[in-house]
Amino acid sequence: MNADEQKRAAAVRALDFIEPGMKLGLGTGSTAEHFVRALGARVKEGLEIVGVPTSERTGKLAESLGIPLSNLDDTPHLDITVDGADELDIELRLIKGGGGALLREKIVATASDRMIVIADASKLVSTLGAFPLPVEVIPFGCTVTAHKMADVASAFGCTGRIVRRADEYGEPFFTDSENFIYDCAFGEIPDPDGLAAALNRIAGVVDNGLFIGIAAMAIVGTPAGTNIIEAK
Ligand code: A5P
Repeated sequence: MNADEQKRAAAVRALDFIEPGMKLGLGTGSTAEHFVRALGARVKEGLEIVGVPTSERTGKLAESLGIPLSNLDDTPHLDITVDGADELDIELRLIKGGGGALLREKIVATASDRMIVIADASKLVSTLGAFPLPVEVIPFGCTVTAHKMADVASAFGCTGRIVRRADEYGEPFFTDSENFIYDCAFGEIPDPDGLAAALNRIAGVVDNGLFIGIAAMAIVGTPAGTNIIEAK
């Protein structure tokens, strides 16, 4: 299986954990999209669930597939969130936010009894950080905030360029919550737990893409099939 087939296989296997009547968080990104499409097909066959999307993009896709939707204000407790990741390690620590949806993804995942991560084999790494860590920052005073992020990161052994994300036209990228994303090319993050907590203590940082202690299970597609990793 190639990478996209691995993503799809992981997404389809996640359906095994979905039961009628569940309230589901719907992730963002190409892997989550496979799940939303597969879920939409089950809904057409009569499966009754309610979905809470983690982005405008996912919401539009789910709506087009006829998946009944809600939001966290009306449906504050979810059974399972299924979402992709940019990187995961064997302890099920994640880097997310490549698609810019990390904040809503974290809010939805932590409102769920279980988060199931779906990914292709390339996402499983021994040390997080090859994928630049996205950090969501309030636009006001963002340059000061970025300098503080660099200081904090270096205290955790993380150096490397911190760059404000731009869209395809070179204009600043805005999240669904109208914030900026800074991508931090640390290369390797020796202490993800410490770094995640320290970044979030900086005024101006809304949240960072490290998901620590949130995922309960990962379904990883490989060339030969899917593997399940469960949180210890
Ligand atoms: C979206 O903000 C991200 O957290 C995605 O879940 C992550 O980027 C994985 O995306 P792909 O499934 O497209 O690789």
